[in-house]
Amino acid sequence: MSDEFQGRYSRRIEEIQPFHVMQLQAQARALETAGKDIVHMEIGEPDFPTPEPVTRAAIRAIEKGDMHYTPALGLPLLRERIAAFYQQRYGLSVSAQRIVITPGASGALLLALGLLLDTGQQIMLADPGYPCNRNFVRFLGGVPQMINVDASSGYQLTAALVEQHWNVATRALMLASPSNPTGSLINEQELAGIGQIVARKNGHLIVDEIYHGLVYDGEPATALSFGEQIIVINSFSKYFGMTGWRLGWLVAPENAIRNIEKLSQNLFLAAPTPAQYAALAAFEHDNLAILEQRRQQFQQRRDYLLGALRRLGFELPLTPQGAFYLYANCEKFSNDSFSFAQTLLHEAGVAVTPGRDFGENQPQKFLRFSYTTSLARLEEGVSRLQAYLS
Ligand SMILES: Cc1ncc(COP(=O)(O)O)c(C=O)c1O
Repeated sequence: MSDEFQGRYSRRIEEIQPFHVMQLQAQARALETAGKDIVHMEIGEPDFPTPEPVTRAAIRAIEKGDMHYTPALGLPLLRERIAAFYQQRYGLSVSAQRIVITPGASGALLLALGLLLDTGQQIMLADPGYPCNRNFVRFLGGVPQMINVDASSGYQLTAALVEQHWNVATRALMLASPSNPTGSLINEQELAGIGQIVARKNGHLIVDEIYHGLVYDGEPATALSFGEQIIVINSFSKYFGMTGWRLGWLVAPENAIRNIEKLSQNLFLAAPTPAQYAALAAFEHDNLAILEQRRQQFQQRRDYLLGALRRLGFELPLTPQGAFYLYANCEKFSNDSFSFAQTLLHEAGVAVTPGRDFGENQPQKFLRFSYTTSLARLEEGVSRLQAYLS
């Protein structure tokens, strides 16, 4: 039946790009099934399990059995906990009324773009960047306005770049700090400058802070401290170790909440109830202590892998301050990072993500290494790379 299907699918769906790394991951799994050992440095989620205080809270809630829909904006108590977290971590007072609980940062990004974007309008994004953003923009009938960034701008957009590229069709600018795939943090002065330009243009600024808990150099301020009109996205996925629970949040200006609520009611009804009850335990002292230990382990891994890759000849001119990624120039070894990633998988037993997934800004020169595996496995991966490359 499916072979004979002659109907058409939407033009929109044709424009959505797949994650190329998934193909590579499938090959890695197939090699493992055939008995080969693979060091995974392609995976974009923490290797640690969800901390016990959170899973225990979920089990207690499920046993109570009240698993009805929550309000579309989220459990009021969880919104208050998140507000308290901004006070505790950043010394910033944020009203719980401005916080919306979403199915992952993915749900938050969709709500933010749904709120702002009209057909044909542009959303400015850094290239390289997180691939779903430009696909979301296209899916909503908008146009991703990709701006190349490199080491000279700290792999982030700058106020000068934003000023230079803003045009009449630009509706909003989206940043991620720290960024995926580069791990770079936006400089606070630049962020303040960008906020001012966007406000002057009557545009909007969305800042994705999903990796904010995983910063190893300094304690960055949240973009929320640079203006009440800025929309901030965050999630329980990465720092809190809860990828599969599908829970995130959005902080928006108070006057946008009614519209976001409408959209959330229609798209999701609500975020998952068990996950919301589980997340109530995420801000408890014992859980935060576990997360701090993990953050320190990520930092050790970053320090090790950064030095090791540089010694092998990969070019990493800057020290990425956060997330769990190193975006390395591999020109010394290959001018086609896609086939190089295939070769490393098959010849060296090391899986990495080729630049192609992150945009069109010279992706053939870059590989993304994730340090989402133990230090011992990273060491094994590096020694395999060394043997192969020499
Ligand atoms: C920058 C960035 N934003 C958002 C997401 C989506 O995260 P989730 O929907 O799991 O919260 C990811 C996931 O990798 C990411 O890297």
